Amino acid sequence: MQSNPKSTAVERIPVFDVRLEDEHVEAVAETLRSGWLTLGPRTKAFEEEFAEHLGVPHAVALSSCTAALHLAYLAAGVGPGDEVVVPGITFVATAAAVRYCGGTPVLAEIIGPDDLSLDPADVEARLTPRTKAVCAVHYAGYAAPLSALRELCDQRGLALIEDAAHSPDATVPGGDEALGTIGLAGAFSFFSNKILSCGEGGLLATRDERVAEVARSLRSHAMTSGTWDRHRGHAMGYDVVGVGYNYRMDEPRAALLSARLPGLAADVAERRRLTHLYREALADVPGVTVPYSDDQVDASSCYIMPAMLDDPARRDPLRSVLAEGHGIQTTVLYPSINEFSAYAGTPGAGSLPRCERAARCQLTLPLYPHLGEERLDRVVRALRDGLGA
Ligand SMILES: Cc1ncc(COP(=O)(O)O)c(C=O)c1O
Repeated sequence: MQSNPKSTAVERIPVFDVRLEDEHVEAVAETLRSGWLTLGPRTKAFEEEFAEHLGVPHAVALSSCTAALHLAYLAAGVGPGDEVVVPGITFVATAAAVRYCGGTPVLAEIIGPDDLSLDPADVEARLTPRTKAVCAVHYAGYAAPLSALRELCDQRGLALIEDAAHSPDATVPGGDEALGTIGLAGAFSFFSNKILSCGEGGLLATRDERVAEVARSLRSHAMTSGTWDRHRGHAMGYDVVGVGYNYRMDEPRAALLSARLPGLAADVAERRRLTHLYREALADVPGVTVPYSDDQVDASSCYIMPAMLDDPARRDPLRSVLAEGHGIQTTVLYPSINEFSAYAGTPGAGSLPRCERAARCQLTLPLYPHLGEERLDRVVRALRDGLGA
């Protein structure tokens, strides 16, 4: 048989990848044919399914996790002059949503290179009489130290908000309470590269009925009835009782999420298995440290595969070798928030050495449920090659 020269090309390995099954596509197609496209019965059904999945009474589907953070902060009473403590290592939305409320994000330290969660002792040091809330991010799907943060918040009368963008199927190690259900509200993301994705989407989960009502009202302009209610003849008109937003989810996205939710646990189980394989393979690579422990992996949703380089100067050249020499995409989660020009003057920005070092050492390796062991081996071999190990 003649060899095809094209077949020798190296397959590119992306840092994340989405694979939809025919039944997922069919659920969206059926919704498109149904004649009702925005917030309606499919969104309500998805909210009920996700609430049950988390074990909370209230789930409010929204247009994004950023919207969920905004509404969570508003429900916690954050307004002009108030401060919210957030980690320096997170996606900018955690801090930006505080600014939407007219409040000030206060940046705090992470625990360190082995655990990139918010450090409760550092949070305590940054509280002021203006602090209204603390936002814990479950970085990469690994639980932030919630019991210490909750105790601190309870003692000071502060709201604890969970940024659960990375953790739709994770718990505290050794516990069975879902991440995103422990604070006043949890904000989830269904953005394209997330574990349970639909393109753009988010959700606010809460055990607090008042918080759920605030979110339901503000997601749709604080109107007393929605278009779906009027369409069904359940209402003839509406009042507007506040200044709300258009943060609604639409029906095709909700249908896609409902179709994908039953597969979430299996996806996360495979992410955990691959994470364990990566950890084993990277254990003896000199100059690379993998954060978190095996026990933490077993409770995590394993959104990304984080590795830390001991020498930050090697990180970017290594990324280039992986990309150019091996066709392997990597990324950095995250730059420290204070390194963005719009956040340079944020309180706390001048004293985040742990965040700044983590931002320079962090390397995110490819991880998705269908990555498979062969590609994983290729990534590890390429990493060794790039490090001369
Ligand atoms: C930690 C964190 N918080 C919030 C968000 C915002 O999510 P969304 O894109 O759904 O608004 C993201 C998304 O990347 C994130 O990673």
